[in-house]
Amino acid sequence: MKNTHRDKIVVIGAGNVGEAIAYTLMVRKQANDIVLIDVNEDRAKGAAIDIAHGTSFHKQVWVRQGGYEECKDAQMIIITAGIARKPGQTRLELAKTNVSIVRSITENIMKYAENPLLLVVSNPADIITKAVQETSGLPGNRVIGTGTSLDTARFRYNISTKLHVNVEDIQAYVVGEHGDSQVAVWSSAMVGGFPLEDYAKQVGVTLDKKEIAEHTKNGGAEVIGLKGATFYGIAMSVSNIVEAIMKDDSAILPAACVLDESFGEWAGVAVSLPCRIGWEGIETCLRIPMNEEEQAAMNKSVAILKDFWAQVKE
Ligand code: 2OP
Repeated sequence: MKNTHRDKIVVIGAGNVGEAIAYTLMVRKQANDIVLIDVNEDRAKGAAIDIAHGTSFHKQVWVRQGGYEECKDAQMIIITAGIARKPGQTRLELAKTNVSIVRSITENIMKYAENPLLLVVSNPADIITKAVQETSGLPGNRVIGTGTSLDTARFRYNISTKLHVNVEDIQAYVVGEHGDSQVAVWSSAMVGGFPLEDYAKQVGVTLDKKEIAEHTKNGGAEVIGLKGATFYGIAMSVSNIVEAIMKDDSAILPAACVLDESFGEWAGVAVSLPCRIGWEGIETCLRIPMNEEEQAAMNKSVAILKDFWAQVKE
């Protein structure tokens, strides 16, 4: 019998998002044992078998359905479970239902896993990250939320199409809530090491920043309106974070975590900032330079999340 427990990643929730994540992890060979857990065991089993069939085309990766005992020796546990956002529904409306679902999932994980590294994908992302951290009792750096990683990807993509430049050459972040109060940080955006403004001027492009930020913010709703759900973008965002952890990259990526006391007014809130991420989880959460307007928008975003959490946790 082969060692099937090396580089093991558990994905909880085998809906569109969980399944796309498992598929992406398999294709990118990011673990050699991928376990799907879902209350609907047949759905998880079907997804695992379907994905496993594809492995014969590249490399042996075990993809299988399992139970919570699989969390015991997993390097990472990815939580995607919850009710999906319906067209017209805000992320915050989902909160109460999904908080109660993930609290029970977290209790199940903690029955088996001693000091797990949890990656939280379920929406509303920031609220759920806070609920998972609180329920698990884990230190903030062990509970990573995907937060604005997908918004940042959308932001970079939208800028790249306007500037006709390789998206990888764009360093620009969306911080704050994974939702309507998110903040596109233009003031420290760079292209190929140049300040974005300089680059845009040199190539003769005038950016409509308001339009790009709106398009970024509405990216999820746009796709949901067209095809009913988003899953490939988030799967790649998750895969990017998984890469930083499994390879111990100390990569700087936007992610959500419960901020510590050093963040003053923001302490205790789960919100996204650029974070340095490696094997232990979040190594440090960075204070991104922002202009006055962005700083005020970030304060507002944190206040919105704080208020909302106060209502949800009751
Ligand atoms: C997204 O932004 C719906 O949160 C999901 O794609």
